[in-house]
Amino acid sequence: MRRAVCPGSFDPITNGHLDIIERASKLYDVVHVAVLINKNKQGLFSVEERIALIEETCAEYSNVQVESHHGLLVDFCRERGIPAIVKGLRAVSDFDYELQMAQMNRGLTGVDTLFMPTSPTYSFLSSTLVKEVAAYGGDVSHLIPPTVHRRLVDRIAERAAR
Ligand code: PNS
Repeated sequence: MRRAVCPGSFDPITNGHLDIIERASKLYDVVHVAVLINKNKQGLFSVEERIALIEETCAEYSNVQVESHHGLLVDFCRERGIPAIVKGLRAVSDFDYELQMAQMNRGLTGVDTLFMPTSPTYSFLSSTLVKEVAAYGGDVSHLIPPTVHRRLVDRIAERAAR
């Protein structure tokens, strides 16, 4: 079984993430989507909510599994026998930090990182920007799956009502 992991914060999943997950699912037998828990970052969605949103939007890909992980990505890979990390590269600006992480991860356990250029349609897209634009009432419905859009609008309204 050829396995790979698509890691990230996924707060929430965007069409850019989906593009990478879908393409990876065609290249590997099993694709693990790993929601990495960062205790220093307060997310808009809980880790459980992020997993549920990813599972819903990836339901059509039968070889995609979604899990959370607290700790190093290389340990997630080692525990599951995953030899490859697949990362989307949006622009050259992503490359510096991604290269550092790829080299660090390879040095730690030998796990390799494969960079996949994102579709140009999503080269500017990030979860952070989607949340910011949506919070100020901008239309992001074309940038995230419909189910994620509904939850995002609801969550922003809940926060505003507090
Ligand atoms: O979606 P993001 O926030 O850009 O994803 C970054 C992520 C979660 C993939 C990266 O921060 C990560 O791998 N975190 C896990 C902790 C870890 O292994 N850190 C060392 C990286 S060399």
